[in-house]
Amino acid sequence: MKLLPRTLSALFIVLAIGAGAGTVWFFVRYPRSAPPRTISIHVSAALIERGRYLANHVAVCVDCHSTRDWNAFSGPIVPGTEGAGGERFDKELGFPGTFYAANITPAGLSQWSDGEILRAITAGVTRTGRALYSVMPYPSYRALSEGDAEAIVAYIRTLTPVSREIPPSQLDFPMNVLVRTLPEPYAPKPSPDRSSPVAYGRYLTTIARCPVCHTRSERGTPIQGMEFAGGVDFDVPLAGRVQSANITPDSETGIGDWPLTFFIARFRDPTSARTQRLPLRDRRSNTVMPWTMFAGMTDEDLGAIYAYLRTVKAVRNQVARFSGPS
Ligand code: HEC
Ligand code: HEC
Repeated sequence: MKLLPRTLSALFIVLAIGAGAGTVWFFVRYPRSAPPRTISIHVSAALIERGRYLANHVAVCVDCHSTRDWNAFSGPIVPGTEGAGGERFDKELGFPGTFYAANITPAGLSQWSDGEILRAITAGVTRTGRALYSVMPYPSYRALSEGDAEAIVAYIRTLTPVSREIPPSQLDFPMNVLVRTLPEPYAPKPSPDRSSPVAYGRYLTTIARCPVCHTRSERGTPIQGMEFAGGVDFDVPLAGRVQSANITPDSETGIGDWPLTFFIARFRDPTSARTQRLPLRDRRSNTVMPWTMFAGMTDEDLGAIYAYLRTVKAVRNQVARFSGPS
């Protein structure tokens, strides 16, 4: 009779040791990260200009890492706050905790080496080894070429230093544990082939996060067959709910009947385009799509994005973009 409880307690001890060892293993194994690379970026005016362009108009770092004016269309940046951080992403906007964009001006990153900044951008690990949550879009920036990643680092080193203390981000359970599984070491990539608009367009869409915002996902995984078909829900600060548009070549519900000139014009002046049905004075029509930043993209780059989007599968999916307060 005594045998059973003893077996059970032995089993319990084995399980407890197993769980303890598992926990230690998990915390040692994750976040997966490689030591920051020792790089010394060869700074030139052209490199800084490339970084400025990417950080402001394509990868739009400055979009999240500055104060945004949500009373205006697509939340433009408040001048003088470029890179100073502080934007809040919280539960009200659908995030698993409260996240603050970091101060990435030289005042915020004075202790960081170039290699450490590059690692944070492309692999999601901070200087002290903390796993960043993927609201900082390093899963998209993994695709950056080494040259472009270095250009971005060179550029943010030139931002006007702004001393601004940013509160630490706070994650809810279980994301405070799971976040450790998100970072992945970066494998340096060669420069994109600009002679092929489709290949270059695919590269630009990835680092501009078009797929992330325009593809619905289920438990963090994009739904297969719905790539670029839109319908992702966003809560816009001070406004209401917005759903991302279908940007596949479907001619009825996507952008299949948009000529290239219209596509480019839509980016250049998003507020006056014919598809912008609701005027901004109706606050419900505000959007998280960083139109004001993307407006600075070159014709070549918008053309490449257009060329790539023509090649993705047409998906019939009607989306009502603006539906008012949530
Ligand atoms: C969609 C919004 C968003 C975009 C776009 C974005 N970031 Fe971030 N970034 C964040 C948030 C939020 C954090 C803090 C995340 C956390 O605490 O887990 C962060 C953290 C960081 C950090 C870590 C700093 C620290 O002190 O811990 C660096 C460096 C950084 N971002 C640089 C960049 C660069 C460079 C780009 C563009 C290539 C960029 N970010 C684009 C939102 C963004
Ligand atoms: C932060 C999320 C986000 C990102 C990043 C984003 N979009 Fe959007 N996009 C939206 C939302 C939400 C809408 C619907 C509201 C609106 O029109 O602004 C939208 C609308 C659009 C429209 C308008 C379609 C129409 O019918 O008028 C086009 C075109 C578009 N996006 C293309 C792109 C491309 C190309 C990229 C990458 C370069 C991109 N988007 C990146 C969220 C995003």
